Amino acid sequence: MFDVDKIRKDFPIFNNKVNGKDLIYLDSAATAQRPIQVIDSVTGFYKNKNANVARGLHTLAEEATISYEAVREKVQKFIAAPDQKEIIFTRNATEAANLVMRAWGEKFIKKGDKIVTTIMEHHSDFVPWQQLAYKKGAEFVVVDITEDGQISENEFEKKVKGAKFVAFSAASNVLGTITDSKKLCQIAHDQGAVCFIDGAQSVPSVKTNVKESNCDFLIFSGHKLMAPFGSGVLYGKTEFLEQMDPFLYGGDMIREVHAERNSVWNELPNKFESGTPDVGAVIGLGAAIDYLNKIGMDKITSYEHELSSYLLNALSGINGLRVLGPTEPKKRLSLAAFSMEKIHPHDVSALLDADGIAVRSGHHCTMPLHERLKVDASTRASFYIYNKKEEVDLLVQSLERAKKIFS
Ligand SMILES: Cc1ncc(COP(=O)(O)O)c(C=O)c1O
Repeated sequence: MFDVDKIRKDFPIFNNKVNGKDLIYLDSAATAQRPIQVIDSVTGFYKNKNANVARGLHTLAEEATISYEAVREKVQKFIAAPDQKEIIFTRNATEAANLVMRAWGEKFIKKGDKIVTTIMEHHSDFVPWQQLAYKKGAEFVVVDITEDGQISENEFEKKVKGAKFVAFSAASNVLGTITDSKKLCQIAHDQGAVCFIDGAQSVPSVKTNVKESNCDFLIFSGHKLMAPFGSGVLYGKTEFLEQMDPFLYGGDMIREVHAERNSVWNELPNKFESGTPDVGAVIGLGAAIDYLNKIGMDKITSYEHELSSYLLNALSGINGLRVLGPTEPKKRLSLAAFSMEKIHPHDVSALLDADGIAVRSGHHCTMPLHERLKVDASTRASFYIYNKKEEVDLLVQSLERAKKIFS
């Protein structure tokens, strides 16, 4: 059984007051809160095992390396990747996307090639490909969404024709839309394109299986699944990672360096992990994965659907409030970005904050999407495993109050 009250007890931050009120944290799409198990794993590492990884031969260094590599195996299993060497640790999803852009894109994208992405992407899955296209003289094509905020499969199929690289997110951070990654990857592959998935929002909420989706690359950030800041992941199929040159040069990514001839790169995954990694953050990522696995990803998804259904229903009762994205709860994550007549999102968020409710307002790093939806900005309330339906009710009450103040 999914026991939200029990889960909440693991999060010390919920003992805090904000503006004299109990904290209602509805900004998990920006970053999730951390359970004590994750916090303890990081402090435990620094207290007992702190040493640099993959270089020392002393006991502590070996222990640190074993713990660090054990997390690689956890990540591999968590996303069902065939091989541990296909898991590259980065600082975040953005760095992972830039790694692919530099190390694969700059090597293989040529003038006239076609790069396809969608209008609902986060800037991290939009700007790298746009810049790659500008640099290389490639065509940059953007797939539209339907009126219901989903990627139009028809248009996707048309626009992907002849593409060399296709990037889309498995779930949108604004519309909440969960995409059919397997189907879209299949369409991309039928055209001989490389398929890149941004899993920053989906991996924390929906079971991820890279074998099933058959994507060539997947990226995500640890901090959105309750791991420390500074932990991110790039998954890439071995055949692609092998073809790519290093992204950053320096220590650890190298096997041989000589003054009189060129260097020889290290094997995967070290080839892409130059310099000292954020070992503590990676250790915390392992603890976060353990925590999610203990609850069970299927249970998390169904709880999020329950919350999202309750949320959509509650928001539909507020006059003048427009929710962006699909109307069907099962097609979305438990988040809602919305606009309200006559109230700017920044004012909404300031008024909610006075009630102890943390939401985000702005364009949420999706300016092209907001332009497409003809709204300058929106307010986003995003929920996760520790949120309760009562918090939806409090959100609605606070929004009604905001409406009264501005009417
Ligand atoms: C869909 C999506 N992709 C990518 C990112 C970038 O994540 P990070 O800032 O952790 O690199 C985010 C962050 O909000 C996101 O929501």
